[in-house]
Amino acid sequence: MSKYIVSQSSPLSGTVTVSGSKNSALPILAATILANGCSVINDVPPLLDIQNMSDLLTCLGANVTVKGTSMSICCDRPISDVTSYEMVNKLRASFLITGPLLARVGKVKISLPGGCQIGTRPVDLHLKGLTAMGAKITQGHGYVEARCKKLKGAKIYLDFPSVGATENLIMAASLAEGLTIIENAAVEPEIVDLSNYINLLGGNVVGAGTDTIKITGVSELRGTTHTVIPDRIEAGTFLTATAMTGGKVRIENIMPKHLKPITAKMRESGIKITEGDGYIDVDASNKPKAVDIKTMPYPGFPTDMQAPYTSMMTIADGTSMVIETIFENRFLHVPELKRMGANVKIEGRTAVVEGAKKLTGAQVKATDLRAGAALVIAGLVADGTTEISDIHHIERGYYNFDEKLNSLGAKIIKTQ
Ligand code: EPZ
Repeated sequence: MSKYIVSQSSPLSGTVTVSGSKNSALPILAATILANGCSVINDVPPLLDIQNMSDLLTCLGANVTVKGTSMSICCDRPISDVTSYEMVNKLRASFLITGPLLARVGKVKISLPGGCQIGTRPVDLHLKGLTAMGAKITQGHGYVEARCKKLKGAKIYLDFPSVGATENLIMAASLAEGLTIIENAAVEPEIVDLSNYINLLGGNVVGAGTDTIKITGVSELRGTTHTVIPDRIEAGTFLTATAMTGGKVRIENIMPKHLKPITAKMRESGIKITEGDGYIDVDASNKPKAVDIKTMPYPGFPTDMQAPYTSMMTIADGTSMVIETIFENRFLHVPELKRMGANVKIEGRTAVVEGAKKLTGAQVKATDLRAGAALVIAGLVADGTTEISDIHHIERGYYNFDEKLNSLGAKIIKTQ
């Protein structure tokens, strides 16, 4: 299995370009099966998760071609409706095809996504919403079967502003009969991007980005061209890497307003950030100050940034509290950081991080996507070298992560 060997690096400097958002591309690719004809989706990051979604669409009968970061998906033919355990096991976001398949074909049989390292990841809110729209849902042998000749608009209140449930229900409602209102909807930028795509298909989604989204179903959607928004979490990860190494970096291809919860905390920590048109300049000449965070649904501090931020706090000036409110088990990076000399105490959903004088390189393991990224950026400042195994977790969500950091002066060697 490949590893990263990360050497202590000098302050990062230069310019880095952020790729398209994985968490926006995945629901948009799922939504392509709603439409007749072909869609061309641009700025899709060439990641394993994307490859798995593309394979899934092909299995469902879509015709997928990839040219660099552009993907063409044609879905004229009637599509099959079964998604295997293996498929969903490889990519839990496969569950996002449930809404579109139900809307397009009237039935779907899909393996229930299991939990993952960071939590049990239930889909009850997805199923509750689809049931409200008239779907008959049965579960058994690890599969969910949903059937409905024609979904009907409904008023749905989400107990929690779930990103995935909001996405699945917007997609299902786009071809339903009548008006669907989703209340307490997720307001993440990826929801707005998906809704913009569905409206380009000829859909009628109003209010995305607010907690009340109204979708009026239409009889048919037709393929279009769309460019995925930049990845705000990848941008935030480069921000923390620059802050930790005391570097000076321009981060290009971003939408500054999507980064607000992250840049606000960074500024509080003493990092100088100047916003430009589609880029930010980061100047981290002084050591970051310890600043508390609490992860919250957007526009709060994103849970996906909690691990990289915790990493930064391990060498900050002072003691900080990191509270993880979204997932029940998202501190898996902490035992690995402690192997590098970090002083962190976990009490339930709170990590108390006492800034250490320095970290030392060690052999550590990437347990999930963002925890892995947190270990890489810790390795940039640790004395000596840090050997990170199980880097497939990192590479399923960060495109060319090692090469992009090396272009800023890091020294990361990938072993086969
Ligand atoms: C999306 O996951 C992202 N994944 C996650 O990014 C991200 O961490 C998460 O949103 C929160 O922002 C993709 O977009 C592919 P949720 P999702 O439904 O949709 C509970 C990464 O690192 N919940 O908002 O699964 C759930 O248990 C990944 O890129 C229910 O209880 O997130 C969790 O506690 C990790 N019932 C909370 O909501 C449900 O039916 C947030 O889940 C659904 C969710």
